[in-house]
Amino acid sequence: MKKLIWLLAAVIFLGACGLGSSNSDETSTDESDSQASEQSEAKKGEGVGDMGKSLIVYYSLTENTKAVAEEIQKQVGGEILRIETVEPYPEVYDEVLDIVRDQREADELPEITKQEVDLSEYDHIFLGTPIWFGEPALPVDKWISENDLSNKSIYPFFTSGSSSINESMSHYGELLDQSTLGEGLGITSSDRSNTSKLVKDWLTEIAN
Ligand SMILES: Cc1cc2nc3c(=O)[nH]c(=O)nc-3n(C[C@H](O)[C@H](O)[C@H](O)COP(=O)(O)O)c2cc1C
Repeated sequence: MKKLIWLLAAVIFLGACGLGSSNSDETSTDESDSQASEQSEAKKGEGVGDMGKSLIVYYSLTENTKAVAEEIQKQVGGEILRIETVEPYPEVYDEVLDIVRDQREADELPEITKQEVDLSEYDHIFLGTPIWFGEPALPVDKWISENDLSNKSIYPFFTSGSSSINESMSHYGELLDQSTLGEGLGITSSDRSNTSKLVKDWLTEIAN
């Protein structure tokens, strides 16, 4: 009788182990499948057509533009490059305003750190900046002045408190007259919570 009870216990135990291992296998396969498909979606772009190889270049002082740059990368993949000034701007907002005002009046662009990038590897460039006094931030103008963007397709994106992108787009029209300037995207502070959808709509329009 004891033998029978042990035998039954062993059968139940082995059965449970077998079931357990097949379930955990299924789970890990499901997980890796869904991770792989998430990654390939991110590379291809979620619902966006094939955009080729993208470079996302941006400047951001208080991280708003960085957040948009990262959302673009999430949706189209590609490489990201952050423009950094050699001399950081102060953390106090009013002090930044004073310095930028002075730089603009003196027609002076801040030095930026050197970062090697081979632009010939990319089909197009997403170029992001905060709007400063109605126009792109000075470090971005500096980056443009140091790189050959002729015959490149440039898709500008901007963040601002409330300003529209019109003045900034005209500025780029003059500065990037050797490039193909695509439609721009502007995200104001009240748009911020809707960034993902605004980026997606913009990318879809560009890609089609
Ligand atoms: C020097 C300076 C000038 C600015 N000028 C404007 C402006 O003209 N219009 C506007 O709506 N916001 C203006 N802003 C606000 C920024 O455009 C806005 O906060 C932006 O999202 C900041 O982006 P970031 O966090 O990537 O630096 C200005 C900010 C600074 C620091």
